[in-house]
Amino acid sequence: SIENKVEELLSKMTLEEKIGQMNQYNGFWDLTGPAPSEGVAAKKYEHLRKGYVGSMLNVRGVEDVMKVQKIAVEETRLGIPLIIGFDVIHGYETLSPIPLAESASWDLKAIERSAEVAAEEAAAAGINWTFAPMVDISRDARWGRVMEGAGEDPFLGSKIAVARINGFQGDDLSDPKTIAACAKHFAGYGFSESGRDYNTVDVGTSTLYNTIFPPFETSTKAGVRTFMNSFNELNGVPATGNKFLQRDILKEKWKFDGFVVSDWGSIAEMIAHGHAKDGKQAAEMAANAGSDMDMESYMYVEELAALVKEGKVDEKLITDAARRILRVKFELGLFDDPYKYCDIDREKATLGKQEIHDAVLDMAQKSVVLLKNENSLLPLKKENQKIAVIGALANDKTSPLGSWRIAAKDETAVSVLEGLKQYNGNQITYAKGADLSTGENTFARELTINTTDKSEFAKAKSVAKNADVVIMVLGEHGFQSGEGRSRTEIGLPGVQQELLEEIYAVNKNIVLVLNNGRPLALPWADENIPAIVEAWHLGTQSGNAIARVLYGDYNPSGKLPMSFPRNVGQLPLYYNYKSTGRPNEPSPGEVFWSHYMDESNTPLYPFGHGLSYSKFVYSDLAINANDADKYITVTFNLKNESKVKGKEVAQLYIQDLFASITRPVKELKGFELVELEAGEQKRIEIKLTKDELGFYDNQGEFIVESGDFKVFVGGSSKTILEDKFNLQWDISQ
Ligand code: IFM
Repeated sequence: SIENKVEELLSKMTLEEKIGQMNQYNGFWDLTGPAPSEGVAAKKYEHLRKGYVGSMLNVRGVEDVMKVQKIAVEETRLGIPLIIGFDVIHGYETLSPIPLAESASWDLKAIERSAEVAAEEAAAAGINWTFAPMVDISRDARWGRVMEGAGEDPFLGSKIAVARINGFQGDDLSDPKTIAACAKHFAGYGFSESGRDYNTVDVGTSTLYNTIFPPFETSTKAGVRTFMNSFNELNGVPATGNKFLQRDILKEKWKFDGFVVSDWGSIAEMIAHGHAKDGKQAAEMAANAGSDMDMESYMYVEELAALVKEGKVDEKLITDAARRILRVKFELGLFDDPYKYCDIDREKATLGKQEIHDAVLDMAQKSVVLLKNENSLLPLKKENQKIAVIGALANDKTSPLGSWRIAAKDETAVSVLEGLKQYNGNQITYAKGADLSTGENTFARELTINTTDKSEFAKAKSVAKNADVVIMVLGEHGFQSGEGRSRTEIGLPGVQQELLEEIYAVNKNIVLVLNNGRPLALPWADENIPAIVEAWHLGTQSGNAIARVLYGDYNPSGKLPMSFPRNVGQLPLYYNYKSTGRPNEPSPGEVFWSHYMDESNTPLYPFGHGLSYSKFVYSDLAINANDADKYITVTFNLKNESKVKGKEVAQLYIQDLFASITRPVKELKGFELVELEAGEQKRIEIKLTKDELGFYDNQGEFIVESGDFKVFVGGSSKTILEDKFNLQWDISQ
């Protein structure tokens, strides 16, 4: 068995070799040139040859991976293969939509398929481990990394985590088309104060257990093979040195038997956090707390052996970490064939193959959310229309790739303009309106949409004036969200709002197509623009997907996985908030209730919102509690009262009215993606079990309490149907 093989190997390993397995280096030399002979790179090279490196990241492509793997296998004493990690976040070379966009599909099969093709492409390029999925719940759109997660809801987030893990890992990790997944960032990273990346996280026990942990715990149940800890501190202790998180919860309570990798340099960062006084203490804290692999801090390789000899770190913990890492390497089949991911013919045949493009196009069209569609402006007519396309992003082939696209080549996305031009029954005229320009930080390639020359505005206006429909493609460039890309203003960057208003003054028939990696606050657009389409950063097939939706060849079915605010001042904003002691609907003139004087409490577009070209009607909600010792059955009718076939995500929310730990006003606890022919009606049934009706108490125990519950059903968190039931269970586990 694998366990026997791991133990046999461990018994042959020196302390230094075990520590070597716990050391991960970034690709450190240009593999086309000679081996490094000086500086840090030379030292790393020496470590690699001695067997003091267990993993490398950011080495990619069969030729390069082969070179480093050969050193590990042929030059080290025990020939232990490397595990090769890479950020395959939404694809490798051919990109799916950013994860937040994919999550808007609520289509678990499509999401799994998207991860599956990403794994296939990456595996063909030598990769066998991805640092995905990010399962951090995020409620603050200022945080740039909301683009990488599944949004604000732990129930949806958990389902999506499982779909992604299953897609990456398949049901057989030794299949060369699959790669190991990594649930990250454990834990709390999505709660960085004020949405500023890497910032302090200070959350209460109830939020930790009921909101932050669930997608991580579900990931362990789904068999995710690795975890990554996070850059932030959590309630005073950096996650990397946090024993409560990594040992007590993850390894003991959840019985996770894979390994934990640190985030980049996060062991050393504990010094800057003011937690460890030097690198040696940082290594001690991280190893004792249960961080198994050191990503790019060099602390384990430098310090751990001495710490063991001094009795500060028990050698058993080192053996345990090495065991976990070796276990995953065996499961991947790397000991049977260390070069199984290194087949140059397979690489050529797989990268960019049609099947992968088909899957990412499918995913992209399912990710689009129709936010508004007045007077049925959409879908567009296919003939005899004068269409003006405006906005620099409409003609951009890099931005749609979004953040995390290291292996994708620039300019490889299908632009909106290219997508639209494939429908040749209409006459298209394009004007950029404003330039895309690089900001000062060219390293980060942050782009702001700007203009110093208003003559572009004039050109755009003259194009718009005579059009039947104006399609404006506005929003954030793909590099304006992601790691290190927090923002305090979440409107349209640069001069785009001004451009939108000036075009509106000459032609009101505007379809606003948004490209963005986070919820934006667009109250003016919502009030004035008749049609708004949320098209995120949709990846390689972006323009094709958008054109298919705009022309009705794909009937939009996406639903928002995050609330869209009216104003940045509302953040953090989420649908599953708690009641206060003050009335929700106060009498007129009331001052002392929980509100803003200058803005409503409600979102501009609620969680779960998304329209269709079909019209869906909900009716006849019924609750059956006959089998209440096992489950509560909720049924309702869903009818497509339109002439077009379409898909709807029917959503079920509950509220536990009175509980020992107060519960949110609404919690998503079930959904079904239903396809209905024109005029068709179905009765939908969703069962609620103890898993959906319970919650974690402040000791982290899952409990179910008897009492009154409300059930809400509808096409968004602003639900339509409502009923009540009384639960007679009291379960503590
Ligand atoms: O996977 C990432 C992580 O999410 C952020 N820091 C770097 C890692 C590896 O690239």
